[in-house]
Amino acid sequence: MKQRLSHILFSQGFGTRRLCAGLVWNGEVAVAGQVVDDPDAEFETEGLHFTVGGQDWPFFDKALVMLNKPAGYECSQKPRHHPSVMSLLPAPLRERGLQPIGRLDEDTTGLLLLTDDGSLIHKLTSPKHHVPKVYEARCKHPLTAAMTEQLLAGVELKEPEGKFQRPPETTRAEAAEIVDDTLLRLTLLEGKYHQVKRMVAAVGNRVEALHRPQFGALVLPADLEPGQWRWVGSPAEVWGQ
Ligand code: URA
Repeated sequence: MKQRLSHILFSQGFGTRRLCAGLVWNGEVAVAGQVVDDPDAEFETEGLHFTVGGQDWPFFDKALVMLNKPAGYECSQKPRHHPSVMSLLPAPLRERGLQPIGRLDEDTTGLLLLTDDGSLIHKLTSPKHHVPKVYEARCKHPLTAAMTEQLLAGVELKEPEGKFQRPPETTRAEAAEIVDDTLLRLTLLEGKYHQVKRMVAAVGNRVEALHRPQFGALVLPADLEPGQWRWVGSPAEVWGQ
């Protein structure tokens, strides 16, 4: 679909319509290597790449990005004790209102997806869709086959201390593998509050460090450093299609 450049910039999070027109008038926007100084110039949005202030920017109707979440960041928009993961994204993505798809704890590291597509958030977090999430949990005590058997069979999750008590819920791991003496690799199909930590506690061990290397079919790229983000071309990369 063809759209005016100022509207394209507006839809991609570059500020108010006035600010977007200003970026164009100031010669900060280029398409296919050519500076465009007319905010009303029209471009086909499908597959469009433009630069703003020299930075390359692909057009996406809906944004989907991956972040290698470092420890010490909260997934909440209104963090209480640490900076928000949103502070690791550039302003246009924050402006578009991206939200994390599920949450990782402040001390958990690894693959976090963020999008401004509400229906995608719903689909990828709904237990109905069985999207596997892979976690690597460094545990305090040596792991045993009895522990992984229990995790696969199902364990009862207790409410964290200090929380009001809900009826106990049971949950099971889809896969559980002992990688080394104290490193556990778990695949879960749900995303309950502190789920890995509570499951590991339920089998008498304790998570000391938690990392998520995979969400659905998407694996955290080895060259994406902690704190860095990258576009995900399409949700199909997460569904594995
Ligand atoms: N399970 C946890 O306990 N914490 C996370 O951050 C993710 C899964």
